[in-house]
Amino acid sequence: MRLIYVAGKGGVGKSVCSASTALWTSKQGLNTLAFSMDRAHSLSDILEVEIGGHPRRIADDLYAYEPDIDREAKRFFSRYKHMLTALFGLFEMEVRPEDFGSFPGVAEMIFMEKLYDVYAEDQYAVVVIDSAPTAMVLPLLQLPNVTTGFVTRLLGIKSKWMGILNMLEPGFGDAILKEARRLRAKSETMRDALLDPSISTISAVTIPEKAAVMETRRLIETVEGHGVFVNSIIINHVMEGDCDCSYCVRRRNSQSRYMDELQEAYGDKRIAHLSDFGAEIKGEDAIEKVAWELYGKGQLAF
Ligand SMILES: Nc1ncnc2c1ncn2[C@@H]1O[C@H](COP(=O)(O)OP(=O)(O)OP(=O)(O)O)[C@@H](O)[C@H]1O
Ligand SMILES: [Mg+2]
Repeated sequence: MRLIYVAGKGGVGKSVCSASTALWTSKQGLNTLAFSMDRAHSLSDILEVEIGGHPRRIADDLYAYEPDIDREAKRFFSRYKHMLTALFGLFEMEVRPEDFGSFPGVAEMIFMEKLYDVYAEDQYAVVVIDSAPTAMVLPLLQLPNVTTGFVTRLLGIKSKWMGILNMLEPGFGDAILKEARRLRAKSETMRDALLDPSISTISAVTIPEKAAVMETRRLIETVEGHGVFVNSIIINHVMEGDCDCSYCVRRRNSQSRYMDELQEAYGDKRIAHLSDFGAEIKGEDAIEKVAWELYGKGQLAF
């Protein structure tokens, strides 16, 4: 299985590039899943189909999946109700199942678990991961540390609290530890998969503007600091045409400065340009055009 992780700051075109990549690989005859890590369900909007909380077939060799975080969080909460109530009780917090999904880290944990299930089932040749605006690649990489910290804390309070938890219900404290270890093992598997260049490709989407380029450089630095190589950069919203009005000339000049800067800094990566389509990108035809620009013209390879 090949994982293609599409990262970048908010609104730069991650979902459009993810959907196009997934369409492209499916057209190559590779059984593909577009997996959304965004609660906003943008893949449904772009593909113009209601995907829902299970992998749904969109076309030949193309599936899409947008896990429903609120539903999954409630499900997770009711599965481990006693455990979570007791745990939050230890920290003198009261939690309602419907609020659990908005707890820090819970959405990432659920996305990670769903992605793990997809990975472990190994039914697809390619899984394209469309990340959430703020997510970048990091939550997936940091999750093992978070769960490790969690387990360590649990072990730390073990002597003090495990006895009490086990008294509430036999084996209760041990069950909590077992669950935390199970989640940690899953997140370690996914982190290792992302770290493995024979499994994962990381693509950063950006736009040729100062703030976006600076953020992209930071993203690449942070991600590569974790040992994950960013393979390609997609520079989106590139102005085409030869209109010589002063606005267009100024914008094109400004854009080419940032494109040159990226080219200079990242000669080791594939850098693709995606032109501004002048209108929202929605539906299969539009996505296919994007796929053609990115892959058909040989800017990116799969
Ligand atoms: N090359 C382009 N030309 C014209 N419109 C574009 C282009 N790329 C993206 N768009 C439009 O920009 C908007 C944002 O794109 P998209 O949803 O893919 O961004 P995103 O990075 O996934 O956003 P978010 O961070 O909110 O998930 C959409 O309306 C999309 O149709
Ligand atoms: Mg998006």
